[in-house]
Amino acid sequence: MNWRKLRTILLTVLALSLIPATRYYQIDVPLLRWLRGSRHVDALSLHLAGEFVENNLGTQQDPDGSVTVRMIAQQYLFIPHCILVPAGVPVHLRITSADAVHWLAFDGTDYKVKALPGTISEAQLQFSRPGEYKMPCREFCGAGHYAMRSELKVVPREQFPALQPEERGSCAAH
Ligand code: CUA
Repeated sequence: MNWRKLRTILLTVLALSLIPATRYYQIDVPLLRWLRGSRHVDALSLHLAGEFVENNLGTQQDPDGSVTVRMIAQQYLFIPHCILVPAGVPVHLRITSADAVHWLAFDGTDYKVKALPGTISEAQLQFSRPGEYKMPCREFCGAGHYAMRSELKVVPREQFPALQPEERGSCAAH
C-alpha cells in the first residue's frame, strides 16, 4: 500500500468519526446534517429545540386545507395525549421517539406508524367519518407498554376551522 492511499483512508476514517462527535458537542455543519439525512432529529433535545418543541406538537392546519400532526412517543406515553383532526382531509403525521422503539396504532384502521429515536417517521392518513379511535402502542417498549396509549378524535370538517388554535392542537384538556 502506498502512502497516498493510506492517507486517503485515514482522512476518510477521521471525517466519518466526526459525525458522532458533532452529536456530542452539538456542532451543526450543513455537510454533516446532509450526511445524517433530513429525517435526523436529536432524541435528547426534542423538548428544547426544533420541530418537536412542546408548542409545535399536535395538529396544525396547512394552507391547502390538510393538516399536519406532530407527536413524540416516549416511555410510556404519546405527546399530545389526545389528537384532534378534521374528517375527510389528508393528515400528515410526523412522529419521533425520545427513547425506545414504539409503534403507534389506530385501532379499527390499518394505520400503524413506527416511532424511532433519532428519526422522523412520516405517514399520510385520512379519516372519512367523525369518530374516536384508540391509539395504543403496539411495540413492547418496557414495563409500562400496556398502558401506553393516546386518543384520536375526528371532528366534522366544517367544525375544525372554528376551533381555537389550542383546541385544534390537542384535545387532551377538553
Ligand atoms: Cu411504547 Cu410500547
